[in-house]
Amino acid sequence: MAALPETYRALVLNAIGEPLEVQTKPTPQATPGSAVVKILAAKILSYGGDIYNGKRKYPLPTPLVPGSGAVGRVAAVGSDATSLAAGDLVLVDIYLRGRDDPSIAALSGVHEGHTETSSRLMRGEWRDSTYAEYAKMPLENCYKLDEKRLLGPTTAGGLGYTVEDLLAMLVQPVAFGGMRCIGIEPGDKVIVSPATGSFGSAAVQVALAMGASVIAMGRNMDALKKLQTICAEDRVQLVQITNDQQQEMEALAKCGPADAFFDISPPAAAGSSHIRSGMLSLKHSGRVCLMGSGIGDVAIPAAALTYKNLTIKGKWMYERADILKMIQMAEGGLLKLGSQAGWVTAGRYQLEQWEEAFASAAKHAGPGERVLFEFR
Ligand SMILES: NC(=O)c1ccc[n+]([C@@H]2O[C@H](COP(=O)([O-])OP(=O)(O)OC[C@H]3O[C@@H](n4cnc5c(N)ncnc54)[C@H](OP(=O)(O)O)[C@@H]3O)[C@@H](O)[C@H]2O)c1
Repeated sequence: MAALPETYRALVLNAIGEPLEVQTKPTPQATPGSAVVKILAAKILSYGGDIYNGKRKYPLPTPLVPGSGAVGRVAAVGSDATSLAAGDLVLVDIYLRGRDDPSIAALSGVHEGHTETSSRLMRGEWRDSTYAEYAKMPLENCYKLDEKRLLGPTTAGGLGYTVEDLLAMLVQPVAFGGMRCIGIEPGDKVIVSPATGSFGSAAVQVALAMGASVIAMGRNMDALKKLQTICAEDRVQLVQITNDQQQEMEALAKCGPADAFFDISPPAAAGSSHIRSGMLSLKHSGRVCLMGSGIGDVAIPAAALTYKNLTIKGKWMYERADILKMIQMAEGGLLKLGSQAGWVTAGRYQLEQWEEAFASAAKHAGPGERVLFEFR
């Protein structure tokens, strides 16, 4: 691996709501506890533009280099690295955790967390994220991948993926973390809502790979049908979100008794009937995972909760064990990625095209589509 260049190009957010700009900056150096990764591809969230223009009101220190999950190659490591080395292909996970208290967390380039102290994670050492040619990240946020297995040709025992396909492994852990926190097991029937967004459709794929069957809920029947086709599984049933609770519950009942309800609603779904319909449609001892923090307060059907012994859990992101297990599932061929799972790149952008890139990500958030920054 060539030595780090003196400077690198990065997308910079000077202040929330101001236009972003590409700047040339001194390349970060690897210090103990860190790796400097040459970014190859970085995912763009469907709501990324709304984070940086201020619509989402996510707390972030500025100036900073924004970012999201990425795939890259380690360029340099700190002197205490025990496993990672220059040249390794890695997943770059933006979920930062306090080393002295892993329950304190922030999302590099996206959100500085929910506690008074979580902001410390992003105001010093780990301020800059992955929308850049290089990113300095904590060693533990760089997950080494079996490059030969994932990218190698199928004729030589590989899975034949592209680097872009591997970006799926940065979306799927969110769903995997949620599914695992409510103990999803093979044979379970899980209601996923809304199932037509980026994280929602990944949740359907993850649940299927875990051996569950899925009732996918969404407003848009065409998008649901597309998802069903992509999944190519008869374990996916569809129920439309109509905002008529009785209608939704009748449709859910026709799909058979459900063990769990997984929700990852965006703020726009505040007040939608589907969360109540989903919870009320669970069988005895059903489990609920709520992951859509921006949706505001949700009315809890206390009577059903009590007489059916329901459990409700919230989840922000995933555990380290989740992402390691998910990589194992992907490398084992159990969890299909990218184009082999029906996903195509709907937009591929350079940093200078950030405006177009964020607009494209918002437009192409549906099942089977990804939008990314590419680096050559
Ligand atoms: N807890 C966590 O760790 C975690 C992690 C990542 C993301 N999230 C949250 O998850 C949310 C969803 O992420 P995403 O990437 O899937 O978003 P997305 O790609 O923008 O998709 C949004 C989804 O919400 C649906 N929707 C929009 N307005 C709705 C409404 N009024 N009623 C019902 N459904 C509605 C959309 O369906 P239509 O086709 O009907 O528009 C689509 O399925 C994000 O906004 C974020 O806040 C949480």
